[in-house]
Amino acid sequence: MTEFLTKERARKIGVVFGGSGLVGGTMVNFYKQRRPGLAEILAPSSKKVSLGNCVDIRNYLMSIRPDFIINAGITNIDAGSQLTFEVNYVGAINIARAAAGLKIPYIFFSSAATLPEGNNLREENQVEISASLSNYAKSKLMAEKTLAYMHQHEGLDYSCIRLSIVYGRHDHKIQGFHRLLFSVADESMPCLFTTRGARHSYSNVRKLPYLVQHMLENRAEFSGRTLHFVDPQPVELADLILTIRNQLHLKRPKKIFVPYALAKTGKNSVRVILRLLTRLGMKATLPPELMFLGAFYRTQTLSCRRLAESSFVDPFPEETVYSRLPVILRYYLQRWSQQNLITSFDDRFHFDDTVKHNFQHNPQALLDSIHGDATAPFKEQDGPLPYESDWRE
Ligand SMILES: NC(=O)c1ccc[n+]([C@@H]2O[C@H](COP(=O)([O-])OP(=O)(O)OC[C@H]3O[C@@H](n4cnc5c(N)ncnc54)[C@H](OP(=O)(O)O)[C@@H]3O)[C@@H](O)[C@H]2O)c1
Repeated sequence: MTEFLTKERARKIGVVFGGSGLVGGTMVNFYKQRRPGLAEILAPSSKKVSLGNCVDIRNYLMSIRPDFIINAGITNIDAGSQLTFEVNYVGAINIARAAAGLKIPYIFFSSAATLPEGNNLREENQVEISASLSNYAKSKLMAEKTLAYMHQHEGLDYSCIRLSIVYGRHDHKIQGFHRLLFSVADESMPCLFTTRGARHSYSNVRKLPYLVQHMLENRAEFSGRTLHFVDPQPVELADLILTIRNQLHLKRPKKIFVPYALAKTGKNSVRVILRLLTRLGMKATLPPELMFLGAFYRTQTLSCRRLAESSFVDPFPEETVYSRLPVILRYYLQRWSQQNLITSFDDRFHFDDTVKHNFQHNPQALLDSIHGDATAPFKEQDGPLPYESDWRE
């Protein structure tokens, strides 16, 4: 039996920060739904424990005394320097201080933003720390460096998982890869804002909890180590966009590559318009997809050799961003249609016709029918509810 399962407390307690996010939510779901016997998971919201507040973190963790901590919390990607520094860096370090004090493992998620552009980048290929880095990259890089320092000098038992472009369901903020998906589905991308041959690595969020659990069970192998967690094969951005377009049966974006200089001019023009709007009292920010425009034109692929040479066994080796596309597209189209974010796919994804009709046109009939047969109190011995959690596959 593994060390993880033999400690005195029969059921481990794990704390997940950022449990409402894409990555953290997947971790919470894994322990709650897929492996409910492994650990009891606590996932305090940012309102309960703010990573920007040292006292919050210390009081919470020292009173709970968990057996492991997973940190998937970050502030908004476009947040200002102070908030980014406080939440992404100081928060990550204060969690590390608690983990070191409690002598428990700490799993930290970092990002390919700490790497330069290039092919087959290894874990040690960090960029130089400099003022010109984005707030996000700087905070992640600083956290990586301080965690390594604390491992060396304070005996911190941590592992750092570096992610590239994460794909999967439940990105409720529509960021990164899912923002790209949204732009195609919304038909707001007329042409290709990338260059022929620009390739990137992708991280499958569905596989991630299996790695985390494996790392927790094998501390001797993974303590103090950073690992890239990406699919083995990098993907050409243009090909991925056109595949999404084809699967959605859309005509746009056209297979025309917009040169970077032109795209950058467009982005700067939008910036000027937004500034003018702000002066007129209308607050507007740059669309998130434009903030990372440069990255669309640069190749950045991560080596996963260290991961492949480790004892971790990929639970779904056949899965790639391409093979997951149908599931992911279905999930997001349904969600965005229901939220009225996109209209083109409305007729394909809607709930029961009678319920929908009554909710829209005859709510009293719906109320009467629910009062008739769907309000009896739940009994403890009742089986699963008719509507299962939408996290399930
Ligand atoms: N998604 C990607 O493509 C990607 C790529 C590379 C690396 N990563 C890394 O993966 C990790 C998770 O990213 P994600 O995409 O899952 O992020 P996300 O979806 O934006 O979720 C961020 C989480 O952080 C929480 N949070 C925000 N401010 C907080 C605060 N002050 N105190 C405590 N919690 C706070 C949010 O909770 P509330 O909503 O309650 O505030 C939310 O649960 C991050 O370390 C990120 O750097 C992600």
